[in-house]
Amino acid sequence: MKIAVGCDHGGYTLLEPVVAHLKERGFDVDTFGSLDGSRTDYPDVATLVAERVVAGDYDCGILMCGTGIGISIAANKVKGARCANVADAYSAAKAREHNNANLIALGGRTIGDELALTLVDAYLDATFEGGRHATRVAKIGQYEDHHAAR
Ligand code: RB5
Repeated sequence: MKIAVGCDHGGYTLLEPVVAHLKERGFDVDTFGSLDGSRTDYPDVATLVAERVVAGDYDCGILMCGTGIGISIAANKVKGARCANVADAYSAAKAREHNNANLIALGGRTIGDELALTLVDAYLDATFEGGRHATRVAKIGQYEDHHAAR
């Protein structure tokens, strides 16, 4: 499983722990964005990573900014991206089970390392339930097809 991890300077504190954890679990990981804590605009990281995930280069993406808000908003502008900004394990699991989220976003200034890893695991270990949820997720794609610019 290949995972793209991206952050701006606000999410940088989570970069090393998240990447180390993913590698420990045996995942292939590539990193994007602020790799040294330098000031980086979150939309640039978000759209780059989301495009790569939607293109199929990665199985999923993990994004981090100060709150997880800006980077998730930006990621969700990419057609086919379903990025969930999560701060509790229930939502992290549901993001996969019900929403088939292909990215999650975390807040480097709002959660600690341990919670971040718990959220990552909850998301990665969950499985999309399909069925009625697939119908609803498909409606998001139908909206994009009919209304989005590209
Ligand atoms: C950067 O200062 C901060 O605004 C950004 O990391 C993020 O929290 C935006 O939503």
